[in-house]
Amino acid sequence: MTADVAARATAGFRSTYGEEPAGRWAAPGRANLIGEHTDYNDGFVLPFALPLRTVAAAAGQPGERWTVWSELSGETVAFGADEVAEPGRVAGWGAYVAGVVWALREAGHAVPGARLAIASDVPLGSGLSSSAALEAAVLAALVDLGGLELPRERQPRLAQRAENAYVGAPTGIMDQSAVIRCRAGHALFLDCRDESVEHIPFDLDAAGLAVLVVDSRAPHRHADGEYAARRASCEAAAGLLGVPALRDVPADGLADALARLDDAETRRRVRHVVTEDQRVLDTVALLRAGKVRDIGPLLTASHASMRDDFEITVPEIDTAVEAALSAGALGARMTGGGFGGCVLALVDADRAGAVADAVTAAYAERGFAAPGHVTVLPGPGATRLD
Ligand code: GLA
Repeated sequence: MTADVAARATAGFRSTYGEEPAGRWAAPGRANLIGEHTDYNDGFVLPFALPLRTVAAAAGQPGERWTVWSELSGETVAFGADEVAEPGRVAGWGAYVAGVVWALREAGHAVPGARLAIASDVPLGSGLSSSAALEAAVLAALVDLGGLELPRERQPRLAQRAENAYVGAPTGIMDQSAVIRCRAGHALFLDCRDESVEHIPFDLDAAGLAVLVVDSRAPHRHADGEYAARRASCEAAAGLLGVPALRDVPADGLADALARLDDAETRRRVRHVVTEDQRVLDTVALLRAGKVRDIGPLLTASHASMRDDFEITVPEIDTAVEAALSAGALGARMTGGGFGGCVLALVDADRAGAVADAVTAAYAERGFAAPGHVTVLPGPGATRLD
C-alpha cells in the first residue's frame, strides 16, 4: 500500500536533505459543484475541497535559496533570488513554487529561504486543481516559516498572481480560493468580484448521497488556448454590452443583452455565463434550505450549457455524464476548465458503484480508455499539519 501522503513528504524530505522538516503543510485539490467559467466574469462559484491533498514538508535554510524535491518527478529543483526576480526563469512544475516566492516578494514580503519536499494525491492534469494545491501548500509553508503577515483571505489572490504572472496561465480566482478557504462538510459560495464567501453546508452523508468524481482520462486538447479564447470572448462581450463584466448582466436582462449582440457564438458564450451565475444562486438557495437532492437538475443543466453554449466539453466527458444520468445519478456535470478533466455525479450513496460501472461500460462500448473514479466528501482547505 502507498504510504500516507504526509508520510511520503516527510520521507522525501529526510532522504533529500538528511534532516527532519520543521513542519508539514497540506492543501487539497478541489471540485467545483457548479459555476464554471464564471470566476473571471466577476461572478459566482461553488467549489468544495477534495479529500485528496498535496503536502509540503519544509524547513528554513539560510540565504535567498529555495530547494524543492517532488515525488512526482523524483527531481530536485533549486533556485535563488535571480531566478525569481522575473517570471519565466524557472519552468515546469518548479514554476508554481518559484511563482509563489516571486509573488510574495513582489508584494513586499521578506520570503525565507527554504527546503521543501512535495508529495501529492491530487492527480495531475485532471482538472482537480493540482497546481493550486501545490501553490497553496508552498505558500502556507513559507508564510509560517517566515512569520509573514498574510491573512488567509488574502492568500488566494497572491497564489493566483503566481499562476497568472509567473507561470503564465490566465486563470480566475476560484481554484486558489477553494483550496485555501474551503471548510470540511461545506461548499464555498464565493463572489469572485469582492471575494466575499459564505460556507454553505453540503452534508451528503445526512442526505444519503455521495458525489462520484469520474476522471475522464481524456487527453487535454488545446485546453490552454481554448481557455484564453473563452475568456477573451467574454471580456469582449462585456465591452460590447457596456458592462464591467458579464456578471452585471442580470438573468432577467439576458434576452435584451442577447438581442444587442450580432454574433451567434458570442451570444452562446454570454448565455452560458449569465445562466450559470443564476444556477449557482439557485443551488445555494436549495442547499441553504437543506434540499441537497434537488440540486441534481441544476448540475445537469449546467452541463448542457457548457456543452452547447460554452462548447468546452469533449466526447469522453459527455459520455460519462449521459451514462451516469442513465444509471440513476440525480445530476451530473463536467467540473473545471474543460476539454477533458473530470465529471461529478450526485448519486444515492448506495448507487455509486452501479453508476461508476455504467460509465466504465459506456467507455468500453465507445472504445475510450477506462475512466477513473472515486467518491468524495467535502474536506478542509489548506492547513498546517504539524
Ligand atoms: C480553471 C481555472 C478557474 C476557472 C475554471 C472554470 O479551473 O483555473 O479559474 O476559470 O477553470 O470554471
